[in-house]
Amino acid sequence: TWTPENIIDEQVARIREQVGEKEVICGLSGGVDSAVAAALVHKAVGDQLTCVFVDHGLLRAGEAEQVEKDYVAATGIKLKVVDARDRFLGALAGVTDPEQKRKIIGREFIRVFEAAAREIAAHGDVEFLVQGTLYPDVVESGGGTGTANIKSHHNVGGLPEDLKFALVEPLRALFKDEVRTLGLQLGLPEEMVWRHPFPGPGLAIRIIGAVDEERLALLRKADLIARQELTAAGLDRDVWQFPVVLLADVRSVGVQGDGRSYGHPVVLRPVSSEDAMTADWSRLPYDVIARISTRITNEVAEVNRVVLDVTSKPPGTIEWE
Ligand code: XMP
Repeated sequence: TWTPENIIDEQVARIREQVGEKEVICGLSGGVDSAVAAALVHKAVGDQLTCVFVDHGLLRAGEAEQVEKDYVAATGIKLKVVDARDRFLGALAGVTDPEQKRKIIGREFIRVFEAAAREIAAHGDVEFLVQGTLYPDVVESGGGTGTANIKSHHNVGGLPEDLKFALVEPLRALFKDEVRTLGLQLGLPEEMVWRHPFPGPGLAIRIIGAVDEERLALLRKADLIARQELTAAGLDRDVWQFPVVLLADVRSVGVQGDGRSYGHPVVLRPVSSEDAMTADWSRLPYDVIARISTRITNEVAEVNRVVLDVTSKPPGTIEWE
């Protein structure tokens, strides 16, 4: 019978058998899949596992801290944090084209992750890489197994030949809801277990226009308000994802106090979905939308307009870039 205890015991035994005395590395993204996969591997082989978290500076408010502090405290995992914020921002400076942004972020991510993996490998006998592949990913990619060919989507693909790892994929038979159940059973922080999907390129693809520190800070504030109000309304689990998008190159006229304002619009993009392949815009209660709008325009000085995206996917995509 399916109980979280059974699955955990079974996977722990399997991982021990696969890994033996060798060392393992795992990239953490802040998302639930890699977090649960790593926690399972840690339960199985303890400090033979080293996790790598690349802070690319494109995460939302509090997310890096969640990995660096809460997750480590909950699991006792050995974590190498690479602060690559300057590097990513430098590489992204002035870039406005969405595909270009993705390419740059993917490239930098692989370079940074690879360097960290090499460093860890230099001290030990690393043969394995943990991947948080789920059952739907396996089906989608035609059931392929074995070598490190991760969806480019997930930003850890394309490791060079001399860094070839065998994969440890303890979630291959599981669906997302099952992974969440395991995560809770393993004692992971609730906010992490219930986190909405978030794209690897992060806030960079939610700033329409060039990415810089100032714009990121602004979007982080607006995004945090939207998340807080959604949570306060008890609607986290009714919504698949809730991107907040900054139209950084657009300005509109408004009034603020006695004066004219000329600020940026922010787009709310709450969506309902089963698998992100198709989606519909979430019919959030008007009073929740109103609270988010009021707070954003009051608390984020540079934003003087909040708009709601009412496009389904298709024809829209969930993200704006
Ligand atoms: P779209 O915008 O194509 O997004 O409707 C579908 C789902 O994929 C997420 N997404 C990404 N996830 N790396 C990721 O790990 C990416 O480059 C990426 N782009 C989009 C998006 O958030 C949604 O859940």
